[in-house]
Amino acid sequence: LPYTAMENPPLVGVIGGSGLYKLDNLKVERTVNPVTPWGPPSSPISIATLDTPKGPVQLAFLARHGPHHNIPPSNVPSRANIAALKHLGVKAIVAFSAVGSLREEIRPGDIIVPDQIIDRTKGIRPSTYFDKTMVGHAMFGEPFDVELREFIVPHVQEAIKSFQGHINPDSLPQLHDKKTVVVMEGPQFSTRAESKMYRAWGGDIINMSALPEAKLAREAELSYALIATSTDYDAFREEAEPVTVEEVLKTLKTNADLSKHITASILGAVHDAVQQGLGSSAAGGMKYSLMTPHS
Ligand code: ADE
Repeated sequence: LPYTAMENPPLVGVIGGSGLYKLDNLKVERTVNPVTPWGPPSSPISIATLDTPKGPVQLAFLARHGPHHNIPPSNVPSRANIAALKHLGVKAIVAFSAVGSLREEIRPGDIIVPDQIIDRTKGIRPSTYFDKTMVGHAMFGEPFDVELREFIVPHVQEAIKSFQGHINPDSLPQLHDKKTVVVMEGPQFSTRAESKMYRAWGGDIINMSALPEAKLAREAELSYALIATSTDYDAFREEAEPVTVEEVLKTLKTNADLSKHITASILGAVHDAVQQGLGSSAAGGMKYSLMTPHS
């Protein structure tokens, strides 16, 4: 079957970030290689089956940095990624991303579901579908789908409690809700001065990948939420060494295992809720956003 003709298209898409290149705890039914007007996505898209109490459900998985982590944050083909998921029939996206912490209380290994974004990639990455023959201005005051975000938070909390692979079972990862993610260009990490400035701006965590993905999901009328996994304390702490790749890699493996567990634990419920209309305000969200009149 061509990938456009799936009988039960996956309603929920999962985008994996650094460390999360495949969902090897789920049964992959097939892999599709869509090509979009914006080129191919970062990786082939896996259609996996998740067994839930109500029967099997399908989900789509895409590795943001490629299956072998060969696409740097500045070159992620986000327009192709979002277009490919939309074309498959996906209505909601749960994205994962490794982040640095800008707050003492957000420790490496913790999980964050942010509700706000500060954009430090503006003008650098292609971040709109409306750059050719149409002018459109999406609302972005709430950059994540509020309904989807609020729905996943308690489910993520439950999933953390039932995760068996903690390095230290005495200190479970904490879940931090309603935080602000700074999205920077990279690929170099921040200076100490920048790290402190982002804290003063109200940033809680920092990464290189939540944008333009979240903007494009909004333009594509898809419901989108981010589950961030903290790997390091960035560079703000005077008494500590600034973040290194070695430090990030150390936490990445545990974080990836936890992310896979979260996916397997919550996606059944997310699928059912989306089927029943959760996040459906995203569809039609661009209705009053086009400046160019229809001819
Ligand atoms: N991703 C993981 N840690 C990060 C950091 N400290 N800064 C930017 N992106 C990151």
